[in-house]
Amino acid sequence: MTDEQREGAATADAEEPRTQAGDVLEVSVERIVPGGAGMAHARGLTVFVPLAAPGDVLRVRVERVKGRVAFASLAEIVAPGRERVEPPCPYFGRCGGCDFQQLAYEAQLAAKVEIIRDCLRRIARIAPPAEIPIAPSPSVWRYRSRARWQHDTRNNHLGYYELASHRVIDVAECPVVVPELQETLSRLRASVVERSTDAEAAREFEAVAGDDGVSLSPPLAEEDTRERARVIAGERYSFDASCFFQINHALLDALVREALREEGGGAEPEGGRGGSAVDLYCGVGLFTLPLARRFARVTGVEANPAATAYARRNLSDAGLANGRVETAPVGAWLARRAHGLAPVDLLLLDPPRAGAEHGAVGGMLALRPRRIVYVSCDPATLARDLRELIAGGYLLDSVSAFDMFPQTHHVETVARLTRAE
Ligand SMILES: C[S@@+](CC[C@H](N)C(=O)[O-])C[C@H]1O[C@@H](n2cnc3c(N)ncnc32)[C@H](O)[C@@H]1O
Repeated sequence: MTDEQREGAATADAEEPRTQAGDVLEVSVERIVPGGAGMAHARGLTVFVPLAAPGDVLRVRVERVKGRVAFASLAEIVAPGRERVEPPCPYFGRCGGCDFQQLAYEAQLAAKVEIIRDCLRRIARIAPPAEIPIAPSPSVWRYRSRARWQHDTRNNHLGYYELASHRVIDVAECPVVVPELQETLSRLRASVVERSTDAEAAREFEAVAGDDGVSLSPPLAEEDTRERARVIAGERYSFDASCFFQINHALLDALVREALREEGGGAEPEGGRGGSAVDLYCGVGLFTLPLARRFARVTGVEANPAATAYARRNLSDAGLANGRVETAPVGAWLARRAHGLAPVDLLLLDPPRAGAEHGAVGGMLALRPRRIVYVSCDPATLARDLRELIAGGYLLDSVSAFDMFPQTHHVETVARLTRAE
């Protein structure tokens, strides 16, 4: 149970009749909460229902009751909220990929800012900044340049996991992937679904689109194994489907600009500005390259050896000899290195959804960075780690959001901190 759910539950009325799984309740949705569900109150319970819109009056089926919290599913829309729209995707409601298609785009953006505020208040236990700007996605459909498709070889389904399950929904057309990935999905279907029921076939496929085509892992053809490249904020990045690259490429220039806002323009000659930076969870070097244009020494740390090989090559192709990249889990690298290093000027971290590993924030504090930029794809783990950084002597300067994932409750956040002297 999240803090949000626990606190909501505490306000429930103990006198209400007992509610159990299978009961149908009528509720009014108050707002969208972290995790993307709508929150309502009924029969003394706090009720969470996915795929809701604020202001909706819904009949919901209770799936599970835990203390004074009920987890429910939508049975019927009695009266739609003002921000509810008709979801265009035929798989909506079953597919676990998109849980915000029922919301008008402006309402999606507002809900995401509220989710960030909520996490800062309840998890970081700080007053959120007065303003949290959110950059909308230039495209709200056909924006995803990376996809992971599941293959259920027994039922011969290819697509995504169903909502809150590991059943695979068979998807022929996905409206959020870029056209090149849609073509790849269709080609994959023709190969693994329509022609084969081979139980040995791969269970999962990763695909990523670059400026010059799609890389698919495992590949179907020679062409799929080729590395791809993308130019972001003037830097060229090579990668393939075996390593992470951001999903929504149209927002990446703005994301890099915001993350490095206080670090100069990067127009100086290599190492011209002096100082040092560390880029934790660096992937193929999205931030490592622009940092190497702004600092004399840059160290990237990343666990995936395929990604570090690309990061080293991306630095060298850019002629940046002042950046080095280490292949290691961040927690282990910090435990080994942080205490021996001179204080760094800037620490940037961009971890996966789980946030920094247990103990890693202590290692970051030991580096005594003057400034920290935390790029996050999960407001809850961001808030958890911010709480530790702030307790360790840092001040939160700004929080900005980027809508990297339209039609879902996910949001990218950049938090900037400085060391309190
Ligand atoms: C959200 S991605 C960010 C990558 C890069 N900064 C970018 O923007 O393209 C997180 C990265 O962390 C890596 N990773 C996950 N767990 C890690 C760990 N414990 N230590 C180091 N890297 C890790 C993943 O392989 C992935 O490349």
